Amino acid sequence: MPRAFADLIHRPRRLRRTEALRRLVRETTLGAGNLVMPYFVMPGTRKREPIASMPGVFRLSVDEVLREADEAERLGVGGVILFGLPARKDARGSEAWSPRGAVQQAVVALKRRKTGLVVMTDVCLCEYTSHGHCGLVRGGEVQNDPTLPLLARAAVSHARAGADVVAPSDMMDGRIGAIRRALDAAWFRETAILAYAAKYASAFYGPFRDAAGSVPAFGDRRGYQMDPPNARDAMREIELDLKEGADMVMVKPALAYLDVIRRARDRFDAPLAAYNVSGEYAMVKAAAAKGWVDERRTVLEILTGIRRAGASIILTYHAKDAAKWLDE
Ligand code: PBG
Repeated sequence: MPRAFADLIHRPRRLRRTEALRRLVRETTLGAGNLVMPYFVMPGTRKREPIASMPGVFRLSVDEVLREADEAERLGVGGVILFGLPARKDARGSEAWSPRGAVQQAVVALKRRKTGLVVMTDVCLCEYTSHGHCGLVRGGEVQNDPTLPLLARAAVSHARAGADVVAPSDMMDGRIGAIRRALDAAWFRETAILAYAAKYASAFYGPFRDAAGSVPAFGDRRGYQMDPPNARDAMREIELDLKEGADMVMVKPALAYLDVIRRARDRFDAPLAAYNVSGEYAMVKAAAAKGWVDERRTVLEILTGIRRAGASIILTYHAKDAAKWLDE
């Protein structure tokens, strides 16, 4: 016959009994200040175009970005990262370094109103090139070294506009060093670099490419972005980017790569970011719209999981919603 009282000394449930106890022993914290909200900035004014595969996310003109960013700041969000949509694309992606580009203008405008948000910019050519690749193309190949000066030009133009942090996402070898040298030569010694150090060739970028119109016209990005089965390769990428002068490093995407985030946290002391990418966002939104998951609980659980894996900073399209929920 089963005994009514088991002879247990250890009962982990004791500390789960009330919310007060649970809060006291909680190991991982998630705050709005850890979150960075991405925005797609387009030319024009009063523009707000919905993105079908990313419900709740819009392509915004600069004035609309300012409105959104004010609200994000009020909610305590830590920063924003800006992606540009050019008026015109060409083979070299030359609008990437135009002082009149949408990103550059948005940075100037945010800084002019003395935003308390950290202002980051994505540095890449794929949104700006007619072929949709992240670098110069010759003979069907993405050229590494000839791309570096173009990325450096884009980064310097963002720094000149006033960006606090430039974040190269192109995955060319040596770009962190090239950007650091170009920033220093132009006297932007205080502009920080967040390297998309371990960026995988992922199916989870699908909705982003809809948003940015950056689907490659031919081939794919597997010749420069990382091969998903590799984790040691990520440690090498991070090590190289730190040696070249990255101030912070990032793992991207987040959810299928939580082990990579953990390894990076254990191995390197630089601030670590993770990108909760567009496809990860879209899956939650789609399931929530069908009533299959509770959006709020799912999002907070995902973001907490990314923090628990070891990321200090999370780039996420859920940033504003999460900040609101964390405040309630
Ligand atoms: C640009 C860039 C991409 C993302 C961030 N920067 C797309 C890509 O590499 O194709 C993806 C972000 C997301 O999916 O949310 N190189």
